[in-house]
This record gives sequence, structure tokens and C-alpha cells, in this order.
Amino acid sequence: MAATSVVVLDRGNNTTCTINLHGATVVSWRVNNQEQLFVSKQAVFDGKKAIRGGIPFVFPQFGPWTFGPQHGFARIVRWNLEKAPERLASGDVEAIFSIMDNDFTRSMWNFSFRLTYRLILREKELHFNIAVYNPSKDLTFSFNMLLHTYFKVPDVRRCQITGLHGCTFIDKTRENTCYQEGRDVVTIGEWTDRIYQNTPQEHIITNVVSGRKMRIQKYNFPDTVIWNPWVDRAKGMTDFGDDEYPNMVCVEAGHVSSPVILLPGTAFEASQILQVM
Ligand SMILES: *[C@@H]1O[C@H](CO)[C@@H](O)[C@H](O)[C@H]1NC(C)=O
Repeated sequence: MAATSVVVLDRGNNTTCTINLHGATVVSWRVNNQEQLFVSKQAVFDGKKAIRGGIPFVFPQFGPWTFGPQHGFARIVRWNLEKAPERLASGDVEAIFSIMDNDFTRSMWNFSFRLTYRLILREKELHFNIAVYNPSKDLTFSFNMLLHTYFKVPDVRRCQITGLHGCTFIDKTRENTCYQEGRDVVTIGEWTDRIYQNTPQEHIITNVVSGRKMRIQKYNFPDTVIWNPWVDRAKGMTDFGDDEYPNMVCVEAGHVSSPVILLPGTAFEASQILQVM
């Protein structure tokens, strides 16, 4: 069994961010001691299985994959700590994580790549800067990417999510049928698994922990996935408690309904900012 390895960014005032090197999964983000992320009590930390909660990093595939595990390999490999947590002049704390191709990744996806993931912890914000580089001289590759963020909420039925009105979505609970969102705010009262396309840069979720709002800002992530397994599907997951579904909502920034196509010698960059309002 691989040893658990975590990296902690500590900004003071009980504001911390904890990253498990297994998948570079953000497993905790506390703002003034208030946890903002949901991690299942049944989550498995065996250095093999993807961690159920926090922010798993989905790459280079979203969903089932012919050549490898569901949602790709990035969330189940051990990442390198490229730059240990360091305090910036602003008082914010930064750390950088990375992976590159190796025999394991090449057995599923035979490309050279380098992926860096930079996290910056601010007073009430967490910033994510991602870059994928294709060092090849002649091979183009394509991929999906998504930050599978599980927000902790007291009761998902009371959350409203803004910024989706008028967007087309693929409803995975209805055989991938496409619909257009007619509501000003999206609420969740049943099994929900939707890929909203060409969404705006900002969403706000109401009624997260302490009755506050969470702002999500995203750049170069055209899609927003909304997910809650609800009761029946919760029961079907061994690493998710039967009664935990009211306490989480996944609002996930990604590039999933179309692939990123990366030419030789070029890089793709995307970012996200989470802010407790
Ligand atoms: C990857 O592709 C190279 C050619 O570009 C080939 O030599 C190598 O055997 C391939 N590796 C795997 C694991 O398929």
C-alpha cells in the first residue's frame, strides 16, 4: 500500500488547503476553520482508487474510457510536488504539482505530455492554474479535462446555481438527451448528471456552508457539469455513504463536451477561482 502523502498550504487564521499527492486531489479547503469541500466518510485512501470527494483531477478522458480507467489516469497517479508551499509577498501561499508521461500513462495514452497544476491559497479564495504542454515534434493529441469539485453544503435541496439559464445541456440521466435550461437558477431535487455547454465564466452557488455563497470563476473551461447521485445511486457506490447525498453538490468546470486538440510544441492553459462570498 502506498503511503498517504499530503501537502498543506497554510495561510494562517485557520485557512488551509490540503492536497493528497494521489491524484493531486484537493481533499480539504478550510476558510477560517470552515471546511468548504465534501469528502465522503467512506472515501478510500489506498493510493489506488480515486478519492471520493474534494477535487479529483479528470484527465485525459472524461467518463468511461476504452483504454484505461473512468475519468482518465490523472486522479489515480501519484503527482510530483514541483514546488513546495511557499508564502508570496501578498501573504498568499502557493504550491505547484506536476505529472508527465511514463510507462503507465503510455500504456493507455501513448503521448509525451507535461501537466502542471498550480494552487494559490488566498484569504477567501483558492486559485487553480493548469497548463498542459505537448513536447512532441510531430504528434498532435487531444484530451478532456475537468475539475470534479465536490462542494460541501448543509442541504443540496436549498442550493441555487446561477449562470446556466439558456445553456444547452446533455442530460446523462435521460440517455444523453439535449435540452435547453429554462430556469434562472438551477436547483437539485433528484439524481442529476448534466453537462452544460458554453457556460459563462461565473457561477454562484447559494446556501453552501454557513449559509454563504460560493463563486466559481473559470477560464478556458467551456463546460459546467452538475452532479448529485441522490439516494439510489448513492447506495450503489461503496465509497459514498447512503445518507451523504444531501451534503454535497458537484459543480465542475471542464473542457469535456469537445476535446482540447493540442498541436506539437504548444500548450493549453485553463484556470479556476473559487471564492467564499
Ligand atoms: C508508443 O509509440 C511509439 C512510437 O511512437 C512506439 O515505439 C511505442 O512502442 C509505443 N508504446 C506503447 C506502450 O504503445
